[in-house]
Amino acid sequence: MKTVIEPYRSRVIEPMRVTTRGERERFIREAGYNPFLLKAEQVLIDLVTDSGTSALSTRQWSAMHGSDESFTGSRSFYRFREAVQRLFGHAFVIPCHQGRAGEHLIARAVVRPGDVIFANTHFATTRENFEEAGADVRDLPIAEALDRTSPHTFKGNIDLERLEAGLAEAGSRARMVILTVTDNSRGGQPVSMANVRAAHDICGRHAVPLWLDAARFAENCYLVKLREEGYAERSPREIARELFRLTDGVFMSMKKDALGNTGGLITLEDEAWAEAIRVRLLSSEGIPTGGGLAGRDLEALAVALDEMLEEDYLSYRIYSTRRLGEQLQAAGVPVVTPFGAHAVYVDGRAFCPHLSNEQLPAWSLSVALYLHSGVRSWETGNVMQGREDATSGAWRWPDLDLLRLAIPRRVYSQSHLDYAGEAVIELFQQRESVRGLRFVYHPPALAQFVATFEPV
Ligand code: F0G
Repeated sequence: MKTVIEPYRSRVIEPMRVTTRGERERFIREAGYNPFLLKAEQVLIDLVTDSGTSALSTRQWSAMHGSDESFTGSRSFYRFREAVQRLFGHAFVIPCHQGRAGEHLIARAVVRPGDVIFANTHFATTRENFEEAGADVRDLPIAEALDRTSPHTFKGNIDLERLEAGLAEAGSRARMVILTVTDNSRGGQPVSMANVRAAHDICGRHAVPLWLDAARFAENCYLVKLREEGYAERSPREIARELFRLTDGVFMSMKKDALGNTGGLITLEDEAWAEAIRVRLLSSEGIPTGGGLAGRDLEALAVALDEMLEEDYLSYRIYSTRRLGEQLQAAGVPVVTPFGAHAVYVDGRAFCPHLSNEQLPAWSLSVALYLHSGVRSWETGNVMQGREDATSGAWRWPDLDLLRLAIPRRVYSQSHLDYAGEAVIELFQQRESVRGLRFVYHPPALAQFVATFEPV
């Protein structure tokens, strides 16, 4: 059979509300032309994120019904810890309420002013947390990652030469090296096992710990299976085990691949770091056997650590994302290729050559897409990563100005994604109509969540 189907069916449904163009014009104006500030009910198909938006399975719900909500030492925590240790293999398991909470704990517990931290690319919240702690935070993507159409199959790789040189130069100031799998900020691109192994060896020589930001590790492992020599016959779980064995620690949002509506995790080998992180945990998140999560959250996550690595599920997920990407590509829409797993990324500058960087092409495109179709998307470009130079006042724009169509897990059907693809293609055919925007309110950090804009 040619047709690829969702490997699950729906027994509970959530009605969607269709809006008119006139209504959407009012909604987005009232939201200050910031799609983040729309009410969710004003959105038809929400591709703003794949984070916290997954549909839970019958297995997850049934585990949640049997949760233990004791204040401390709950059965649900021990079930969670066991599932984490079985997969990740590290000695210490620290739950927290979401990814950035874990980053904050690490930043406060072990990062000191003047430390240098390297990554393929730090996600925005990771960068923010480590910079706030006074660290010098450096991204070392490979050159191909900056080229939207480079066919390199692992554009999430860290540049090993620059890593070696950077570690040598930083000396004792080097605090940690992080691989973000997959690299969300640069097109959701995977990191190869060969790259992880090489980074592991380099870190070993410099006695610097190698960590993962593992929010989307299952998708990364499945792309390794599909693309990297020697892995075709291995299961995603086996690949994941090998990946984690190469690391000293992992921090991750459990709202993405781990199919949680909330949740975060730190798991690591070093006892002194674990102790320092736990001290912080107690004052800001919760007790060590909960980290601010309810027993039912821990139950849902423990089940997900199995489900997220199921081959049928991962194979469908990669297929459906690629299908959307190929639809756009066939119509000439400038997309980032090869396609990753959790999202399709559109190049805002190439889509809207009539807009200058100041007119925020990808952001403007996100607003235009909402107006055209009710589809919400996320800009990861000039607004999210642009920085104003403190002394000169000039703007520094990122290498890529992208619009991300992120696909929630197990939520939307193929026809929903077809609709979203068709909307982008229709807009591309009338791309000169996309109106530029400029900042009205620009906060000092993480602008995308609260900034407001006006049409130019
Ligand atoms: N790291 C990566 C790679 C992420 O993509 C995110 C969140 C975080 C850390 C922070 O985790 O949201 O649980 O606090 N990414 C979301 C997204 C927001 O839509 O890509 P969090």
